[in-house]
Amino acid sequence: MLARSIHPEPPNDDLRWKPVIATMRRYGFAQHALIETLHTVQSTFGYQDEVAMRFVAECLRVPLSRVYGVATFYHFFQLKPPGQHTCVVCMGTACYIKGAAHLLEAMEDRYGIKPGETTPDGKISLLTARCLGSCGLAPAAVLDGNVEAKMTPPALLTDVDRMALSAQPVKTAEVSEEVMAS
Ligand code: FES
Repeated sequence: MLARSIHPEPPNDDLRWKPVIATMRRYGFAQHALIETLHTVQSTFGYQDEVAMRFVAECLRVPLSRVYGVATFYHFFQLKPPGQHTCVVCMGTACYIKGAAHLLEAMEDRYGIKPGETTPDGKISLLTARCLGSCGLAPAAVLDGNVEAKMTPPALLTDVDRMALSAQPVKTAEVSEEVMAS
C-alpha cells in the first residue's frame, strides 16, 4: 500500500499544496477524488490554472483533458485569478484556536469582503484553507503565495495593505527558518 501514498512532487514549495495533497490522500489518490480535489484547489488558490490541473492529473492518474473537462464544466471553478492579490487565511483547528476567525473579521472590517469574495476594485481576494500542514505557524495566512506566520489582525492588515499597493503580486517577508522549525 506504500505505493499508493507516493505521489508526484508539488510544482513548488507553496504550502497551499498541502491541503490539496491531503484531500487526495484522504481518498487514497483515487480518481473519484477529482472534483473534491479541485474544490480544495479552488478554495486555497482561488482558481485552477494549468499548473494545478496538471499536478492533480498526475497525482490521480487521470488524463489532463478530463481535469480540464471537469474544471470547465462546473461554473463554480474559476480558471483565472479572481483578484490581483490573494489572501488565504488558514481555518484549520490549530489556526482557529489561535484566533484565525479574528483575522477574517479584520479583513471584513477593513476591506468589506468575506471568504470567497474579491474587493470591488479587483485588488484583493480573500480565501480560506483547512490546514496548511504547518500548524506550528498558527495562525497562518498566505499572501500572494508567501506564508505569514503567527499572524495578528494588525500585522495581517499591514501586510495586506502593503500588498494592495503593489501593482503585481509581491513577495512578502519570507518565513524565517526559526519560525518554520517551531
Ligand atoms: S491549522 Fe493552520 S496550518 Fe494547520
